[in-house]
Amino acid sequence: MKRGITFGTFDVFHYGHLRLLERARALCDWMAVGVSSDELSVSKKGRAPCYPFEERARIIGALRCVDEVFREESLERKADYIRKYGADILVMGDDWAGKFDWVVPLTGCEVLYLPRTPAISTTAIIEKIRG
Ligand code: CTP
Repeated sequence: MKRGITFGTFDVFHYGHLRLLERARALCDWMAVGVSSDELSVSKKGRAPCYPFEERARIIGALRCVDEVFREESLERKADYIRKYGADILVMGDDWAGKFDWVVPLTGCEVLYLPRTPAISTTAIIEKIRG
């Protein structure tokens, strides 16, 4: 059984998030998703998420393509999470291309960056609603 893992803030859940999770799950038989804590999201994106961690994690956990959800506290702990969940493959969108290659020699986990779905992001949705 191939075990997968991916990470993200997944704030204001949208079609690009769904496609990333579905494509990642198609590459494995079981998948854990690390949902970034509110603090980590602020440090990555420079703003607080619209939905708090508990709500973002509940939405991700309700998806058919997700088998387990956990709180991601720090980008530097990727290798710990990979070991904890026994992941064989780490999948990220290609906005992160190359950023997590360092886990390969540490864990033996494969890393794959999938093309982002064009023209949609949480930031773009917030901007659009703001008008
Ligand atoms: N993602 C994607 N396609 C998009 C948007 C996001 O494949 N159009 C992927 C990202 O590459 C990442 C995961 O979804 O692997 C979570 O991304 P996240 O940063 O939570 O979403 P964004 O919409 O990029 O958020 P923001 O605009 O706040 O940066």
